[in-house]
Amino acid sequence: MVTVFSGKDFAKKLEQKVAQDFSVLPLEVKKLALVDILVGNDRAAQIYLDLKGLAARRVGINFWPVRLPGTVGKNDLLSLVEELNRNQGVGGIMFQLSLPKKFKAVQQGIVDKIAFGKDVDCLTSRRLAQVMLGKSSFLPATAEAVMAILEQAGAGKNRLLRKKVVVIGRSDIVGRPLAAFLKKHGALVTVCHRQTKPLSDYTQSAEIIISATGQPNLIRGGMVSSGQIIIDVGSPEGDVDFLEVKDRVSFITPVPGGVGPVTVACLLANFIRLVKRLG
Ligand SMILES: NC(=O)c1ccc[n+]([C@@H]2O[C@H](COP(=O)([O-])OP(=O)(O)OC[C@H]3O[C@@H](n4cnc5c(N)ncnc54)[C@H](OP(=O)(O)O)[C@@H]3O)[C@@H](O)[C@H]2O)c1
Repeated sequence: MVTVFSGKDFAKKLEQKVAQDFSVLPLEVKKLALVDILVGNDRAAQIYLDLKGLAARRVGINFWPVRLPGTVGKNDLLSLVEELNRNQGVGGIMFQLSLPKKFKAVQQGIVDKIAFGKDVDCLTSRRLAQVMLGKSSFLPATAEAVMAILEQAGAGKNRLLRKKVVVIGRSDIVGRPLAAFLKKHGALVTVCHRQTKPLSDYTQSAEIIISATGQPNLIRGGMVSSGQIIIDVGSPEGDVDFLEVKDRVSFITPVPGGVGPVTVACLLANFIRLVKRLG
């Protein structure tokens, strides 16, 4: 019997906990803003930004969405980040990544300007290096969400020893940090990417599959086995062919309503971790 995980229901519970943690912060700390910068008009990113805003408002967090046209230049973004770093009313800063294509070569340089103490989603190289070394007190929100969901699936960080995990996707914000964290907790992790062929050789023998590619229906029914835990990070469409896969495995996250809402709640939890130290 498969468990179809409800990220919406779970996120509600997480959000209640976040609201509780937030409510006991000193008034001055509660006023600090969480700034989320969106450049360009990617629809999925806009939806995410709105969802974060709604969740932050429910908790009481002062959320500042900054929407900029794709025509802005590198220097505009650098100045904005510097200004936000200096602004003592700002507690956390993040970008909706990826930035538009024209920023590809300079994206990391821009993101690296975020002050370490305000890097709420582990986007800077410095924070990411800590994550990779297992020295950060928190993970990027998506990785936090995946770990929280694995806990619900009975495969939390204390139950990962020798678990065969396949992570598909090796980006700095999802695949890489997740793989590092899973390895740190004793899992046997294989990271797959575009050149992994055939992917099914790896997926079929895994106990846990975490897919974060953005390729709809990459994971088909014939690529999975019974008893597996499937975490689909892909958005706005899932990486997993849900209808083909769901009755063959023991636990699966749907899209939408799986990892996404949990990521939003985890981002707010990260923000509270950051600003708490200012209290
Ligand atoms: N739900 C959430 O909370 C959340 C949060 C963040 C991201 N996302 C979603 O997660 C997905 C990945 O995001 P990202 O930022 O990590 O994307 P990304 O930077 O584009 O990375 C995609 C990764 O997937 C791999 N990949 C692409 N096609 C593949 C294929 N056919 N077979 C195997 N591997 C393949 C790529 O391999 P190469 O390295 O070889 O190119 C790359 O490592 C997107 O759909 C994004 O929208 C969801």
